[in-house]
Amino acid sequence: MKDAYSQQVSESVESIAKHWDRKPRFGIVLGTGAGNIADQIDAQATVPYGSIAHFPTSTATGHKGNLVCGELAGELVIAMQGRFHLYEGYSFDAATLPIHVMQRMGVEVLFVSNAAGGLNPKMECGDVMAIESHLDLMFRPTQHAFPEHVAGRPALPPDSALDPRLIEMAMSTARANGFALHQGVYAAMLGPAYETRAEYRCLRRLGADAAGMSTVPEITVASKYGIRALAISIITNVAKPDALDETSGEEVVEAGRLAAPKLQKIVCSAIQALSC
Ligand code: HPA
Repeated sequence: MKDAYSQQVSESVESIAKHWDRKPRFGIVLGTGAGNIADQIDAQATVPYGSIAHFPTSTATGHKGNLVCGELAGELVIAMQGRFHLYEGYSFDAATLPIHVMQRMGVEVLFVSNAAGGLNPKMECGDVMAIESHLDLMFRPTQHAFPEHVAGRPALPPDSALDPRLIEMAMSTARANGFALHQGVYAAMLGPAYETRAEYRCLRRLGADAAGMSTVPEITVASKYGIRALAISIITNVAKPDALDETSGEEVVEAGRLAAPKLQKIVCSAIQALSC
């Protein structure tokens, strides 16, 4: 017997199948500033979240709220143009429903992007960072991150999806294209406010290189399913807790402009490398 959540996942998959009935191997979650990668997809269907059973709606600024389904780098992909954040009031399980749906549709490799504040002093606005592990400081409960088929087995750590081989591929792409790719630890905060200066200092001491408000719920669910993931942070502001400095809206837009082509190269090259 299916539980109610699993039933919801099935109904979401059925709604999508009415528009697009393929089995994508690659899933993409596009965060703030990265939504335009969806324009590179040779779209076979663009499905608004509002037309998918049980999907929440995307309320965050700059998040369009579509599933873009089609081909990228010659492979079938399904991309979320805009994600759901816990600060929008969604539960962990509501916010991660699309990841369960992607897994049910056949996704084996997930690319996730986000906007983050750089804590590592080596970072600059517009840089990109591959997440090697995370600090979950959201502390939100999940009932459904643990799918039935892993129940009873020792639980894998929630960052086990973050695959060092995918990071290595991304590093090669960065080297080949002459841009820097940091590797580091992402601290997930509930938000929606940015951190206080004291919090930025504290997160740095805890070992974080960047702070943001997303990604960890998605990576946690991917980890439970054994999906391999590459998560990339776009550094939209650099936290300098001891120097008075405010982040302007223009800086965030500029960071997206600088980082979007890098992210696009990383994702397309990884898809190409994984499909040969
Ligand atoms: N903190 C949290 N989330 C963010 C930040 C930040 O400094 N910048 C972009 N997203």
